[in-house]
Amino acid sequence: MNFVTEEKLTIIGAAGMIGSNMAQTAAMMRLTPNICLYDPFAVGLEGVTEEIRHCGFEGLNVTFTSDIKEALTGAKYIVSSGGAPRKEGMTREDLLKGNAEIAAQLGKDIKAYCPDVNHVVIIFNPADITGLVTLIHSGLKPTQVTTLAGLDSTRLQSELAKHFGVKQSEVTNTRTYGGHGEQMAVFASTAKVKGTPLTDLIGTDKLTTEQWNDLRQRVIKGGANIIKLRGRSSFQSPAYVSIEMIRAAMGGEAFRWPAGCFVKNEKYQNIMMAMETSIDKNGVHYKEIKGTLEEHAELDASYKHLTALRDQVIDMGIIPAVEKW
Ligand code: LMR
Repeated sequence: MNFVTEEKLTIIGAAGMIGSNMAQTAAMMRLTPNICLYDPFAVGLEGVTEEIRHCGFEGLNVTFTSDIKEALTGAKYIVSSGGAPRKEGMTREDLLKGNAEIAAQLGKDIKAYCPDVNHVVIIFNPADITGLVTLIHSGLKPTQVTTLAGLDSTRLQSELAKHFGVKQSEVTNTRTYGGHGEQMAVFASTAKVKGTPLTDLIGTDKLTTEQWNDLRQRVIKGGANIIKLRGRSSFQSPAYVSIEMIRAAMGGEAFRWPAGCFVKNEKYQNIMMAMETSIDKNGVHYKEIKGTLEEHAELDASYKHLTALRDQVIDMGIIPAVEKW
């Protein structure tokens, strides 16, 4: 079976649980024969590499390094889980300072060693801000950096499939906007269940308003719930979704989820905007977000929250003031 591309994919944080899961997933999906595993903590990295080799994936050439220059040189695709994970009782934003600093360094390294990279997926939290920080320091275009909103859309899809007892593929067009955090706006307007608009089902005995509110909360608190259930933060779902994003960026398959992506608008006013993103072989497409007034009010609140977080990283000196972007 052919690979999607021959180009180099670098997985950052590869000695950790998410990173090693990414490596396995990328190998199983046959994205590229050319996978480089990077982790600054060499312990375990060789073991992960050996295990992937022992799976005997045909034609795969997995290398590993703790040297960032070697890891990034020639990389056309990068996926990074290389920040600190959240622990029980923490919010994603509690990781802001340390992880934003890691993201700033990553952005600088990308600029220095692989400025012609095609696409970067950043998933360490708070993923929207770490994505933004990487974007600014790397000098890449906003369309080249995506974060973790796809995981929230998938969570919504799977919660709805479970509730209605239908196949995952029968729940379509699920969307969450406004970032990958508890401020996210979970949209009802876009989704359909077996072709029926979700909005026609909410408030009926098939999905009471109370059940919908519970379901939304399960999406919003999906990550925190996994920490409660397994004592550690999620690893399989962010790994899978981020590798799907990489596959989409490689043009292997149309993108199924909106990606979190922050852009500055031309007037430098509403600096961060979550856009609906779709990627196909012709490139990346942004669409305007459609929703009800209530959904847009929620979205506005999300933007305010994210803007405040952005301002915190500016105040910390991690990214320059907006007018210098
Ligand atoms: C998730 O949503 O599963 C991840 O962002 C990890 C976390 O800390 O919640």
